[in-house]
Amino acid sequence: MTDQELVERAFTMLERSYVPYSHFPVGATLEGADGVVYTGCNVENSAFGSTICAERTALVKAVSEGCRKFTRLAVVGNSTDYCWPCGACRQMLYEFAPDLEVLVARKDHQFVKFPLRALLPHGFAPESLD
Ligand code: THU
Repeated sequence: MTDQELVERAFTMLERSYVPYSHFPVGATLEGADGVVYTGCNVENSAFGSTICAERTALVKAVSEGCRKFTRLAVVGNSTDYCWPCGACRQMLYEFAPDLEVLVARKDHQFVKFPLRALLPHGFAPESLD
């Protein structure tokens, strides 16, 4: 799957987003090391803090299915700016995939690509507990 195809698959998830409060849908695709692609969307809640982001939805779906190694993530939104992953998502992803490549798209389907290590420098990792 090309980078653009991973991004386009993430765009298909926007319609699944549950966003009655922010009206800001986000879609994500997370590629496992075995090539399986896990999808996610943001799911909001009337207790706002209980909202889960699209990236973490994809991640917890993957981990709960037994996948713990990842190669690429795409995150997309309907925004003019690139849909940057929030800090909590960067941290959750870093736990499993510090070498992840992150594709970040905007509504015109243009995207940029960054290593997760660049988005979360000096990240806290399992080894940090040693
Ligand atoms: N959101 C994500 O899904 N991913 C991010 O990394 C940033 C924010 C969602 C959460 C909320 O539903 C909406 O975007 C507005 O913050």
